[in-house]
Amino acid sequence: MEREKDAGTVVVLGAARGIGRAVTDAFLDSGCSVVAADVDNSVSRMSRAGVSNRVVDVTCLEQVDELARECVDVSHVVFTVGVGSGHRGFPFWNVPPAEWRRVLDVNLIGAVNVAHTFGPRLAERGSGSILFFASVAGQIGSQTDPPYSASKAALINFTQCAAKDLAPFGVRVNAIAPGMVKTDLNQSVWEASVRGMSADQQPTYEEWAAEKIRRVSPLGRWQELDEIAAMTVFLASDAARNITGQTINIDGGQVMHS
Ligand SMILES: NC(=O)c1ccc[n+]([C@@H]2O[C@H](COP(=O)([O-])OP(=O)(O)OC[C@H]3O[C@@H](n4cnc5c(N)ncnc54)[C@H](O)[C@@H]3O)[C@@H](O)[C@H]2O)c1
Repeated sequence: MEREKDAGTVVVLGAARGIGRAVTDAFLDSGCSVVAADVDNSVSRMSRAGVSNRVVDVTCLEQVDELARECVDVSHVVFTVGVGSGHRGFPFWNVPPAEWRRVLDVNLIGAVNVAHTFGPRLAERGSGSILFFASVAGQIGSQTDPPYSASKAALINFTQCAAKDLAPFGVRVNAIAPGMVKTDLNQSVWEASVRGMSADQQPTYEEWAAEKIRRVSPLGRWQELDEIAAMTVFLASDAARNITGQTINIDGGQVMHS
């Protein structure tokens, strides 16, 4: 994989598990140093060479700012944080309005906090990138979890705003929108959807996922962690130097744009 001449340090937020953990490993494999940050202090147990750890809640601007001040020579920032409401989202009035706040606070305001603290530093550096994790749900009015979908739609839009603002400084901003990746977050969607069903009616996680993938994905398969991580490393590389403001769907063709 071709990398920027001075790869520097990559900050991964949401690194404790799932996609963030896979992304952390992929950057380490490619020879980068990684600052792995997460609100879950199990992130402290990541102990590969090249990784340092921070416990950070992205909803707290002061904590994110402290992280940005501590991390010198950062060249790329990857925001893999994400939460769902934990509710079965259709009809939308199943999710009480008060519960929208937490999802928007983590998925959107958390990303804004990261852009505000790291963006000007990257601008001063004159190179590098920010990558947000959005979702196909942010592009199709998904009924699964409306606050989640709305937060991701807003994040896709903010990706474009930030990309325009940072482009004159040589800094790129993109988003990846996964489809179905086998992680705790994905499993929590199944848990919410079967809650309240009698035991004999409940599909297993595998059954639920297989049916959903068959229904929505032309390629008919899960998206794998290593596929997501490979695109993340590519978007941080010099080979992607002309790509900014984009949302790249890795979804087996679930969402197609002309
Ligand atoms: N898994 C999928 O199928 C899927 C599909 C579409 C989009 N995504 C997106 O991909 C990204 C990664 O998702 P995942 O499936 O790996 O989820 P995950 O739940 O496995 O991991 C999310 C991580 O974010 C961390 N986090 C949560 N709140 C935080 C906070 N306030 N501050 C710091 N860290 C916090 C969690 O501790 C966790 O380690 C998310 O943005 C998610 O919305 C995932």
